[in-house]
Amino acid sequence: MSKEKINGQLFSYSGPAFHYLNEEERHFFAKAPADFRVSLIGCGMIGMEHMRVATRVGRTSIHGVFDTNERSIKVAREEFAKVTDEDFIVYDSLEAACNDPEIDGIMICTPNYTHLDILKVAIKSGKPIFMEKPMATKLEDAYEITKMAKEYDSVLQIGLQYRYKSIYAEAIHEVLERRAVGDVKMINIMEHRIPFLDKVNQWNKFSKYSGGTLVEKCCHYFDLLNLFAQSRPVRVHATGSQSTNFIGFEFKGEKSDILDSAFVTVEYENGVRAGFNLCMFAPMFHEEVVICGDEGRVKAAEMEDFGESERLRTEMEVFCGQYRPSKTSKPSYPKLIEDSGHNGATWFEHIAFADQMAGKKTNSATVEEGFWSIVVGSAAEESVNTGKIIEINEFLQSKGIDL
Ligand SMILES: NC(=O)c1ccc[n+]([C@@H]2O[C@H](COP(=O)([O-])OP(=O)(O)OC[C@H]3O[C@@H](n4cnc5c(N)ncnc54)[C@H](O)[C@@H]3O)[C@@H](O)[C@H]2O)c1
Repeated sequence: MSKEKINGQLFSYSGPAFHYLNEEERHFFAKAPADFRVSLIGCGMIGMEHMRVATRVGRTSIHGVFDTNERSIKVAREEFAKVTDEDFIVYDSLEAACNDPEIDGIMICTPNYTHLDILKVAIKSGKPIFMEKPMATKLEDAYEITKMAKEYDSVLQIGLQYRYKSIYAEAIHEVLERRAVGDVKMINIMEHRIPFLDKVNQWNKFSKYSGGTLVEKCCHYFDLLNLFAQSRPVRVHATGSQSTNFIGFEFKGEKSDILDSAFVTVEYENGVRAGFNLCMFAPMFHEEVVICGDEGRVKAAEMEDFGESERLRTEMEVFCGQYRPSKTSKPSYPKLIEDSGHNGATWFEHIAFADQMAGKKTNSATVEEGFWSIVVGSAAEESVNTGKIIEINEFLQSKGIDL
């Protein structure tokens, strides 16, 4: 992070491209010291994204890493050297990574099935913790985490970061702050994308390690549905299948068992109805939310089709009929931010974690929101498996969860 402000904001760039300048020659590119140091548990795909973003944002620096895979550490070391001159510290145990007196916080970026056990160790440190989504693979474990969080005096932020993508940030502003559509009645989200990517030990191809597609991937969208509905889900119905991807795929003798497509409907306590449509064998990334209220309609979409032709990357429509002005726009962040990962969502999630470490209130995802995103995801998986409509109260009771 530069010491210079542009329009009152600190300009973020700390990469090695200006290494030819001496320290005393730097002003615009002089690096201000980070406010916080954190340890990174798990340096795979998203761990490295957090590492790059942390270095670029500059508020937080990665003090050390812990990972059970030698190759992940080797590659993280190489990537770290590309973005900073700082020493790369590797801890030899999870306990060492969590209890280093030099650190101010902990980031947990390991596969879903490890989250609860790692959190049990991390929480003993009493330090602010960021933990990737989904909180857990099973609803019972997610509930245990909500109980742990209630007793925890420090920060526990969950990585439900899509609320920071520019399209959703703008839709939240229009629908919840500006009330551009009046009272929300219907919400529809669609995600069409390429199949799940490769992971260390291919954990995301197996429901027992990921929680199933509707928990692992779709908790992001269920968090958004819950947020736009501003209410608790009461009923979930879903159909889905593994129709195309990873059929016959085996890893270490286990067969992949995850959904690649689904339709989910959710009914909320306040009468809002929501739908979610997933296709994971589309040759693109396309996501779209449509929110209809009694005074208007908002649609926001984000597209990447790998094609050569020029087309919109984001679009947004706010149509308010006779009630107030309508508009169309292309929400975006500066390119440096969008290119840093998940179209800028990771960047703002990171800033939120730094703000939380500084004692500020943020709109980042809470453990409670993490829990309710898993309630919808688990109920949807259950509905696909049983063919039944899932009543949320009964579903929670069947898991021994009494709220
Ligand atoms: N946008 C997002 O919000 C987003 C995107 C991708 C992944 N994620 C989440 O981040 C987490 C990690 O996903 P990923 O894509 O980086 O997976 P990955 O397989 O690429 O990386 C996971 C890393 O964790 C390490 N690891 C596994 N078990 C460990 C343990 N017990 N202790 C320490 N290290 C361990 C692995 O060796 C690997 O390096 C998952 O929970 C996933 O759902 C979130």
